[in-house]
Amino acid sequence: MRILFLGDIVGTPGMTLVRKAVPKLRKHWQLDAVVVNAENAYHGSGLTPSLYRQLKEVGVDGITMGDHIYKKSDLIKILLETNCIVKPANYPDEAPGAALGILPIGSRGFLAIVSVMGRSFMRAVDCPFQAIDRVLAQIPTPVKCILVDVHAEATADKYLMFRYLDGRVSAVLGTHTHVATADEQISPQGTAFQCDVGMCGPHNGIIGRMTERVLSHAITFVPISFEVATGDVRLNGALLEVNEQTGKATSIKRVRLEDSQFAEDVTPPNLEEL
Ligand SMILES: [Fe+2]
Ligand SMILES: [Fe+2]
Repeated sequence: MRILFLGDIVGTPGMTLVRKAVPKLRKHWQLDAVVVNAENAYHGSGLTPSLYRQLKEVGVDGITMGDHIYKKSDLIKILLETNCIVKPANYPDEAPGAALGILPIGSRGFLAIVSVMGRSFMRAVDCPFQAIDRVLAQIPTPVKCILVDVHAEATADKYLMFRYLDGRVSAVLGTHTHVATADEQISPQGTAFQCDVGMCGPHNGIIGRMTERVLSHAITFVPISFEVATGDVRLNGALLEVNEQTGKATSIKRVRLEDSQFAEDVTPPNLEEL
């Protein structure tokens, strides 16, 4: 199963690029599944039902979120209807949404998606290790391909989850910091990992927001709205190959593509060029 996972989609610039890129990449790279983190899709914070539908329409199979999951409260009715968007598994049972997504992937069978939050420098949440064990126990045995989004601030939290799940899931991919790391790897037990896959959005700012506003707040402590930045819009993620019989990852490649690579008359790069 060939899976493209895209990091945090930030605002209109991120949505515009993802909507252009996903149909092209699905075809050009013969993708079986596309999973995205969409916690920042609505002006940098949250996801609306309308943006959710736009993502589904361009060929996104599954969506992970994070600490911004409930910023747009009208998403809750969608969260209660579908398991193709997952809430952090270590949020309380009372928090709306499914902790496990089982996505049908045509003739390839199924892909399970789970999201879990780290505990360092973030809102207090339940133990991520106990939570992930509870969710993994619910996955039917025939479903071998399992993708875990570890949404955390600290690199150590992400490595802890990678080592904890080593050999038990197909991939552990980091989100939330919006900055891609260069440590993609596959363990001898067949689990792919990248500490953070980066974001889909404007890089001419501070993790997707306008530099002047974030700096002003950091320097003066006076609250100000963090508008989404513009310019240097990039698509960041990871491309995985997973053996659907065993659930083991056989390849992971970092994906970093520019907006100009998706212009109307431009063919996206071939897989060998990544
Ligand atoms: Fe984010
Ligand atoms: Fe986040």
